[in-house]
Amino acid sequence: MLVRFKKNFEKIAMGLLSFMPEEKDVKKLQQTIKEYEENSSWELYLWKEEDILGIIGVRFEEDKVIIQHISVNPSHRNQGIGKKMVEEVKQLFGEKFKIIANQQTDRFINKCENQTKIL
Ligand code: COA
Repeated sequence: MLVRFKKNFEKIAMGLLSFMPEEKDVKKLQQTIKEYEENSSWELYLWKEEDILGIIGVRFEEDKVIIQHISVNPSHRNQGIGKKMVEEVKQLFGEKFKIIANQQTDRFINKCENQTKIL
């Protein structure tokens, strides 16, 4: 299930975000986390089973929710966690907002969309 980011998850959140190609630089990563902590339009969620296995970060902009970060622990990939996080974000916000990707996430989000259509 998705749980809202809290300060005590900061290290694990940074570890997960660092798998995104654009977040490799430590300074950039620290700025990103700071923005999630301080900017009320940015919200970060963690995928928690027994452990925390994934992360998804969104930004609210007018009538849109932009999925701007998504990452899963490499040992737990290809088990559907990425898709489940996207689905939960749609369930949480899809009624009121249009859910879209940005450049950092569109390859995977588009893949989820296409699979939904086929199913
Ligand atoms: N773009 C498009 N498809 C991708 C992808 C990417 N960057 N990464 C993985 N996939 C595909 C897999 O090939 C697999 O395809 P299949 O269902 O046809 O076999 C499918 O997504 C796996 O889906 P799922 O198990 O739900 O995803 P996951 O839990 O493995 O998580 C990511 C997917 C992208 C979050 C994970 O690979 C990751 O953390 N990558 C590093 C961070 C990253 O690059 N994020 C931005 C992605 S655009």
